Amino acid sequence: MYKNFYGLKRNPFEITPDPAFLFPTRRHNEALAALYYGVRRHKGFVVMTGEVGTGKTLLVRCLLDLLNRSEVNYAYVYNTRLSTLEFLQYIAGDFHLSAAGKSKAELLLDLSSFVVKRYQQKLSTVLIVDEAHHLEIAVLEEIRLLTNLETSQQKLLQILLVGQPELDQKLDCYELRQLKQRIAIRSSLGALNAFETQGYIERRLELAGSNGRALLLFPPATVQAIFEMSGGIPRLINTICENALINAYARKASSVPPEIIQEVASDLRLEKNSSPQPFNNRMENQDLWQATKTLLEFRQFMKASQ
Ligand SMILES: Nc1ncnc2c1ncn2[C@@H]1O[C@H](COP(=O)(O)OP(=O)(O)OP(=O)(O)O)[C@@H](O)[C@H]1O
Ligand SMILES: [Mg+2]
Repeated sequence: MYKNFYGLKRNPFEITPDPAFLFPTRRHNEALAALYYGVRRHKGFVVMTGEVGTGKTLLVRCLLDLLNRSEVNYAYVYNTRLSTLEFLQYIAGDFHLSAAGKSKAELLLDLSSFVVKRYQQKLSTVLIVDEAHHLEIAVLEEIRLLTNLETSQQKLLQILLVGQPELDQKLDCYELRQLKQRIAIRSSLGALNAFETQGYIERRLELAGSNGRALLLFPPATVQAIFEMSGGIPRLINTICENALINAYARKASSVPPEIIQEVASDLRLEKNSSPQPFNNRMENQDLWQATKTLLEFRQFMKASQ
């Protein structure tokens, strides 16, 4: 609707996680590198947690893109309100093993021989569980047992658990202490800072075809208001920006003024973040440098391990 008016080729603020829109903050880079490294180096258990809307599923999709370019076979579970049997049936099905009517013991046997066969062919096998905070303790314990498939040097099945901070709490519970001890790599995602929020908005607009006009469309005072109202949470930034563009278009405004952000935020019933970080040039430059450095290192690492 507003795309033509603002000269955009596509919608810049879709809330579906699209790897093409990845804005590589230092934390996102590090988390993606940790996931990829864990899989490629056969580390066994890898866990990534983060608040709602901070980009976990987006990073999983980036990882899947990377894995699709290699010989890695993966099962990807994103509906986690499953019993142990349903969970095993689901992953067997995702690995194209027949699962219908099989008992838990039969499924475990099938999965084990599948993973071992792939290992013998020097192929990696990965189980990725998004929304893992919803998994029942019994299912998490079953997942731990799957990692018992190992040689003296490495795990045969790589497992990535991704979820909201409740997953960390779950993994801290007494019943799961054996699983917790086996976690080889942990990473976490959080809100963006003010500088990253600005870069995030600019990048999305540029990718949508704003052609160098991102700052005209969203001037610094508007970006600051978005940061304050979203608390730097990417999904909220997207929702606010999308609604702000619709609102500005309705007024035929050439740019989005800060007042629109207050209106949109109150329509969305968002409250101002109580302790927003101010813009700070010195810190910003350092952050940018770090993010660029990590991304370069990650690209080199990926090249080397392909
Ligand atoms: N670094 C980033 N670069 C570009 N877009 C991002 C980034 N981080 C998050 N987003 C966007 O924010 C939105 C929410 O991301 P995502 O769905 O991955 O969050 P999540 O952490 O999985 O949330 P939930 O806990 O609700 O599952 C998506 O539109 C995603 O594309
Ligand atoms: Mg998600």
